[in-house]
Amino acid sequence: MLHKPLGLLAELTHRCPLGCPYCSNPLALDPREGELDTATWLRVFREAAELGVLQVHLSGGEPGARRDLVDITAGAHAAGLYTNLITSAVGITHKILAALVGAGLDHVQISIQDSEAASADHIAGYAGAFARKLALAAEVVRHKLLLTVNAVVHRANIDRIGDMVDLALALGASRIEIAHVQYYGWALKNRAALMPSRAQVERAAAEVAELRSRHHARIVIDAVVPDYYARYPKPCVGGWGRRSLNVTPAGKVLPCHAAESITGLKFWNVRERSLADIWANSPAFNAFRGTGWMKEPCASCPRRELDFGGCRCQAFALTGDARATDPVCHLALDHAQVAQLAAVQTDAAYAYRHI
Ligand code: SF4
Ligand code: FES
Repeated sequence: MLHKPLGLLAELTHRCPLGCPYCSNPLALDPREGELDTATWLRVFREAAELGVLQVHLSGGEPGARRDLVDITAGAHAAGLYTNLITSAVGITHKILAALVGAGLDHVQISIQDSEAASADHIAGYAGAFARKLALAAEVVRHKLLLTVNAVVHRANIDRIGDMVDLALALGASRIEIAHVQYYGWALKNRAALMPSRAQVERAAAEVAELRSRHHARIVIDAVVPDYYARYPKPCVGGWGRRSLNVTPAGKVLPCHAAESITGLKFWNVRERSLADIWANSPAFNAFRGTGWMKEPCASCPRRELDFGGCRCQAFALTGDARATDPVCHLALDHAQVAQLAAVQTDAAYAYRHI
């Protein structure tokens, strides 16, 4: 059965002022000259709404690098989509934010790298980024927009989850997403420098449980166990080709943001085809839809409709076979290597992603 997508991640540009060592953009970035123009994005939004999409996440790179961000937001709003801006805050001035509000922006998600300025700027590889995030968050709340704080945690900052939740509360956020680094693409280069210890992960899980009960009804805290320490994998993107789709800056349509890391998949482009055609018929979307593609142990596992065999990109990164069970699963044939990789930890300097 072909499900309808609910969410569209619009990667407006790969350009970004920050240099995060866990960058989730692909290794080969789309150049500015190859980015979709405004009119094409507006067509994509109309086609997405017709297809059943309810929300668009305006993302990047840093979407503020696009001069037409206000027109793009207005077009998404006019198509009837709920609009969420995902930003580093560097590049969104107060004036641009006011124009975005006028264009119909519904929600803002600001990433933070830590709760302390010096550490946050060190992780982002950008002096002064933290202060800009606080200033933009205050403006978002002043405009009465909903604010989510997104914190990517790893060995350098995982011990300050409580401080990050306090910061999100002080900023007036209604939600904080505590996400662990996903190890594919650029983050693979920094895996050992980002990998938390098991003791850190266990302390963090206990802290999140305590914070949820302490701040119940004040802020929503989203957090999951990091992949390399989990017993079962996450149902990545809610199942391949099932709930969401991504459009890259150059117009390729992907089932997940890291799908280009799987070699051999063919992605269709919105410059040549409609979104509905791509969603239903693209070879990349049909490659891992449903359960028919699965190997054992997933093929006969009672959880196969719950986690869909985990993350295809992680399976490919760790085994070289995108049809393999995600090695994070304790039932996977290659599970032992996950513990071996998690044991490799270092406090060495980061390889930054400067563009
Ligand atoms: Fe999920 Fe496959 Fe593991 Fe079963 S064997 S729990 S379907 S990843
Ligand atoms: Fe691609 Fe998980 S990130 S399937």
